[in-house]
Amino acid sequence: MTANSTQVQVALGDRSYPISIGSDEIRKADIARYISGKKVLIVTNETIAPLYLELLEGQLADKQVDMVILADGEQHKNLDTLNLIFDQLIAGHHDRKTTLIALGGGVVGDMTGFAAACYQRGVPFIQIPTTLLAQVDSSVGGKTAVNHAMGKNMIGAFYQPQAVIIDTDTLSTLPDREFHAGLAEVIKYGLIIDADFFHWLENNIDLLLQRDKAALVYAIELSCVSKARIVAEDETEQGIRAILNLGHTFGHAIETFQQYKQWIHGEAVAAGMVMAAELSVIRGDLSAADLQRTKQLLQRCSLPVAPPADMKAEDFDRLMLRDKKVLDGQLRLVVLKSLGEACVTDQFSTDHLYQLLSRACSAS
Ligand code: NAD
Ligand code: GLY
Repeated sequence: MTANSTQVQVALGDRSYPISIGSDEIRKADIARYISGKKVLIVTNETIAPLYLELLEGQLADKQVDMVILADGEQHKNLDTLNLIFDQLIAGHHDRKTTLIALGGGVVGDMTGFAAACYQRGVPFIQIPTTLLAQVDSSVGGKTAVNHAMGKNMIGAFYQPQAVIIDTDTLSTLPDREFHAGLAEVIKYGLIIDADFFHWLENNIDLLLQRDKAALVYAIELSCVSKARIVAEDETEQGIRAILNLGHTFGHAIETFQQYKQWIHGEAVAAGMVMAAELSVIRGDLSAADLQRTKQLLQRCSLPVAPPADMKAEDFDRLMLRDKKVLDGQLRLVVLKSLGEACVTDQFSTDHLYQLLSRACSAS
């Protein structure tokens, strides 16, 4: 493995855009070519600004650059914080030709994208994701949102960026826990759509855990290829895109139960993906051996493979009905038909679900 830069295209007609992936990509990507106007607003947070803001500003020497530095954390992903971005845009006399640049993880990316979708009914934006989760998932595909006190990502829009610039060097400062959580989403692509990639991950997970540069570029590229393929087929999640949420219905129930105070998203998703895989075994689709492989791979990334010990089957039952995949009161779940193939279904027996929930909750 020697490649240290590559490009993936998200094919959406005249809204298509490139994802460039590589070491030192903030410097190499020639970001200015994606900016047609003279003005730019960089949105970042207090953790990322001291690490990468100067580097990014250095690439925009011929632009008029404003910035807004937000407080760090999911608890700030709300309308009040969004307003700080609008305040800066209006105070700085930014017009429709202004480009917003999101420099940060999924929280900054989702908020900046939503601000771009709303400001003067839509201005261009660029994603520069700095967490593994944001590089393989949230920066690609145009889902943007803020949270409401009564629900996560409840207010948002589908709005695609002009480009996604993934500089894998930014991962060198990412805390281990966040890095491992991002690996859960990487493993997800192997499970839902790419069995060969799952096999590659089994053989190369130690390299990824050491943050080997070439291995990272390859894993991020394959993840983005899968995500781009699904988004191109179903941009607004009318069908197939929902498979990207493997394990998320269970995972969101865990996050809500813990009031977002204990496990981080990727950890909850890891346990949720195991629950989805277990349900797939109970349904007679996935083999017990492939369930075991899934658990082992997640465990090698220090990720949980069972729900929190204090959660009961009734808690899942109650909390899962709040999921956005519930349509007309009917719960829909992503299940695996085999390793590397997923589907969304509302066709599962309540007995199977209860069998799964009581088994999973007693195992933890
Ligand atoms: P995050 O943005 O909160 O980042 C995690 C932590 O890492 C933060 O403290 C952040 O400041 C810090 N950080 C970021 N980059 C760093 C770096 N290079 N070095 C050191 N520290 C760094 O969390 P996340 O996991 O990136 O994103 C989670 C968010 O993404 C959630 O709000 C979730 O809803 C959203 N999301 C959106 C989509 C989508 O399709 N839009 C998909 C998945 C998740
Ligand atoms: N992260 C799920 C999606 O983009 O659809």
